[in-house]
Amino acid sequence: MLLKCNPGLEDVTALEAEEEYQGRLRIVEVRKGRGRVIVEAETPLIRPLFRMRSIHSAAILLAEERVGYGSDALDKIADIARASGVHRYIPQGSSFAVRAERIGEGHEYTSMDVARVVGKAVQEAFQGEYGYLPEVRLGAPGVAVVAEVDGDVFRVGVAIVGERSGHRRGYRVYDHPAALKSTLAYGLLRLAGARDSSVILDPMCGGGTVAIEAALLYEDARIICHEKNPRHVRGALENALAARVAGRIEFIVGDARRLEEVLGEETVDYAASNPPYGIRLGDPTSVRKLYSKFIPSLYNVMRPGGRAAIVTTESNHAVTVARRAGFRVAHARKVRHGDLWVSLLVFEKPG
Ligand SMILES: C[S@@+](CC[C@H](N)C(=O)[O-])C[C@H]1O[C@@H](n2cnc3c(N)ncnc32)[C@H](O)[C@@H]1O
Repeated sequence: MLLKCNPGLEDVTALEAEEEYQGRLRIVEVRKGRGRVIVEAETPLIRPLFRMRSIHSAAILLAEERVGYGSDALDKIADIARASGVHRYIPQGSSFAVRAERIGEGHEYTSMDVARVVGKAVQEAFQGEYGYLPEVRLGAPGVAVVAEVDGDVFRVGVAIVGERSGHRRGYRVYDHPAALKSTLAYGLLRLAGARDSSVILDPMCGGGTVAIEAALLYEDARIICHEKNPRHVRGALENALAARVAGRIEFIVGDARRLEEVLGEETVDYAASNPPYGIRLGDPTSVRKLYSKFIPSLYNVMRPGGRAAIVTTESNHAVTVARRAGFRVAHARKVRHGDLWVSLLVFEKPG
C-alpha cells in the first residue's frame, strides 16, 4: 500500500501504521521528505487506515518501476499502467479518473502528461478485456487511479482512502485563515510526546485544530485551546462541536505572552502550536517580538519535563529565545506546511 502524508512526517506515519496494524504490517520504504510511506499489510484490512490520523490518503499499490526523467518515460509509464491490471479494479458500469502527481524536479514531462497516458492505457486495457470503453468522470469517479512519478520512479495504484484529502476532516465548519492541516497537528502532538491523562495546551489555537486532534486522540486529557482573538475562539468551539469533542476542551480568550496569568505556573505537560508566521504577517520583526515574550511565558506554565512542539519560519530566533528561557531543544526537523518548508521544533523544560 502507498500511504500519503505530510512531507517531513513520514516516520510519524510509519509509526502510526505499525501501531494501528499491531504488527501485521511491514514498512517497505519511508520516502523522507516526499510524504510517502510504502507498506505491506499481512491482512488486506483497510479499517485501520480509516483510524489513522497522519495520512492524507492511501492506495493499493499495483506497480512501481524506474522510468527515468526523459520524455521517453511516458511510453514506459503507459506500458506499466497497462500491465499493472489497474483496469480490473474498475467495476463494469462504473467510472474512473486518474489522479496524477509529479514529485521532484528535472522531469521532461508534466503530471498532466502522466494523467493522459495512464488514462489512455487504462481505457485500452479495459476495452481489451471487456469490449467497451469505461466512462471517465473527473469529479466523483467510481474508482480513482493513482499515478505518480516520484523522482525517476513511477507508481500506479487504486485509491482506497481519502479521495477527498484526509486532512480535510469533516469538522472544519469554521475556516481559520491560517488553519493547520490536521495531519500536521497530529504530528506536532506525537513529536511533543503528548499522552493521555496529561494537560495539553495550544497557546495560539486559532480554529482549534491541535486541540480537536488532541481530544480525538486522548480520552482523558485536559485540553486547553487558548487564543487572543475571540472570533477564532468561537470558531474553534464551532469546529469542536462539529467534531463532537467540545465538552472535552477548555476554550480561553487570552494573550500567549502572559499565559501564567490565566493558567498558573507549571500546570502544562505538553504544548503544540503553530504561532503566526512572519512571512504571512508580512513582518518578521513583529513575530520575533511575539516569540520573545511568548516562549518565556510558555516556559513558566510548563511543568519540569514538559515538552512543547511548534512550527516556525523563525527557527533561529525561536531557539535563541527558548534556550535563554531555560528550555532545551529536544528535536528539530523540517516539515512541509502548504507551499513552505518550515521548522518543527520541540522544546523541553529540564526535569
Ligand atoms: C497560525 S494561527 C493558528 C491556526 C490554528 N493552528 C488552526 O489550525 O486554526 C496563529 C494564531 O495565533 C493567534 N495569536 C497571535 N498572537 C497571539 C497572542 N499574543 N496570544 C494568543 N494568540 C495569538 C492568532 O490570532 C492566530 O489565530
